[in-house]
Amino acid sequence: MGVREIPGDPGDDLLMFPDESASYRESAAGETWDVLIVDDEPSVHDITKLVLSGYRFENREIRFFSAYDEASAVRMLETVPTLCLVLLDVVMDRDDTGLRMVRHIREELHNSLIRIILRTGQPGAAPEKTVIVHYDINDYKLKTDLTADQLFVSVISALRSYRDLHALYYSGKGLQKVLDYSAFLFQVRYIREISSGILMQLASIIHMDQGEPFRLASAFFATLTNGIFLVEAGFGRYANHIGDRLDELLPPELMRTFERTWQTGQNHYEESSVFLSLKSKFGRMSLIHFKSGLPLMEEDRTIIEVFCANVNIAMDNVYLGNEIDMTQKEILFTLGEVAEARSSEMGHHVKLVAHYSRLLAVLAGFTEEEAEIVFMAAPIHDIGKLAIPDAILLKPAKLTEREFVLMKTHAKAGADILGSSNSPILKAAAIIAAQHHERYDGLGYPEGLCGKDIHIYGRIVAITDVFDALDSKRPYKMIWDMNEILAYLSDQRGKQFDPVLTDLFLDHLDQFMEIRNKYKFDP
Ligand code: C2E
Ligand code: SIN
Ligand code: SIN
Ligand code: FE
Ligand code: FE
Repeated sequence: MGVREIPGDPGDDLLMFPDESASYRESAAGETWDVLIVDDEPSVHDITKLVLSGYRFENREIRFFSAYDEASAVRMLETVPTLCLVLLDVVMDRDDTGLRMVRHIREELHNSLIRIILRTGQPGAAPEKTVIVHYDINDYKLKTDLTADQLFVSVISALRSYRDLHALYYSGKGLQKVLDYSAFLFQVRYIREISSGILMQLASIIHMDQGEPFRLASAFFATLTNGIFLVEAGFGRYANHIGDRLDELLPPELMRTFERTWQTGQNHYEESSVFLSLKSKFGRMSLIHFKSGLPLMEEDRTIIEVFCANVNIAMDNVYLGNEIDMTQKEILFTLGEVAEARSSEMGHHVKLVAHYSRLLAVLAGFTEEEAEIVFMAAPIHDIGKLAIPDAILLKPAKLTEREFVLMKTHAKAGADILGSSNSPILKAAAIIAAQHHERYDGLGYPEGLCGKDIHIYGRIVAITDVFDALDSKRPYKMIWDMNEILAYLSDQRGKQFDPVLTDLFLDHLDQFMEIRNKYKFDP
């Protein structure tokens, strides 16, 4: 497999066997997000800095570097290794300066991590789509389209994708989190969903998960079942072949390629397609085929190899038997954190809500076992926040009415994500996601349910979630004083919160504080 050079790349072995102890957030380089503006018009530099200054993403500020011509831009790219994004003018001294620079970055400097946003003042100078796809351009914008908001959104999304790619390269953990979730589902026998999750994940890491590239792609995921490979998931040409036998579906030459892949254990790459064989030690054996309508890039192979290694690790974890219960808990916490992680101050929210909710459930008369379900399910109450754009989720100020309307969709979005499952834990989680913002007086969302029409899971988490939200710093609010929090709970007794549960909470406050003191300030 081809290995690309990344500045400071620790080497192939480390790519394949990520250092588990490295925190991937920290590993995403320095204290700032270093952004290079390349444009021959000084005013563009000024406006860009003005628009983006003061914004933070994951608690780091943006630091700007400016280049006014091609030569100085190239020099900076070569000498500043922390650059993570280039805002690049297409037309400068020459009509194609920007595109030449893109080629230079990807092909000469072999820098495939840095994100690129192309900007042009002239609509006619738009690069072809194939250029955008082939050279992995994050965004292409007309300068006239770049309002402050749009620029902000596209820069933040480029930084996010830089962060994720960086994580993928240097620790493998970003992806591992998602795969852990798949692994969990695997264990509860959702092979088909996991397979399609894995396929989509694969499509997304090579940027073929939307638009034209996705439309042109075909893929399947097959697993060995009783000696026969059966298609578990597919899209494009294979979308309608779920459950089919692979040997009856594929033309003989493709089947032969797979057999070779299978026997040698070496993935096989062609210009626009890949043949992957996954053999986890304990899990099922699987084959993946991905065919894109566009040529694959050299660095896609590297990413795909890392991806396969991680799929195997995740599958092995699942099959390691005894620890399954523990693993489930960890995975649910991790999954909750995926949603929360995007806002850096979330800290232990997920864990605390789980513990508070279990205690309140026990106080309300649940058996240990019933309370355990609440404990496992509560941490993912906000999984629907994955659907909320960073610009809203991380906004360091009060939301506008329109933004809050969108924010409120996280409840239903979460329920939709979890709703189709048959696992008792995920079913409980779906109820909690759907109802944790309902209010006892019927003024909550999304349904405006009233009193006992709200499931007791929802009424429990409504209290524990707000208790910890008020007891935490958020991008948009300060931490509240404990006396204020308790006054708020009493005041909202019978309004926002179930009166009986509120009383139970306040009557046993010492036990909740014990949990708080134990976990709130964990390192
Ligand atoms: P969150 O920050 O975790 O807050 C969860 C819930 O705690 C809120 O649900 C609300 O019931 C309660 N809460 C949090 N802070 C306060 C507060 O200062 N005063 C009062 N009275 N209650 C508070 P809610 O309001 O449905 O919000 C859901 C989520 O929407 C919040 O989760 C947060 O992520 C987001 N959000 C709400 N308002 C804003 C805002 O003004 N700015 C930003 N950036 N996000 C907001
Ligand atoms: C994923 O891998 O993204 C999740 C899998 C799933 O939801 O089935
Ligand atoms: C949170 O619990 O982190 C956010 C509050 C909510 O929307 O439930
Ligand atoms: Fe919520
Ligand atoms: Fe919450």
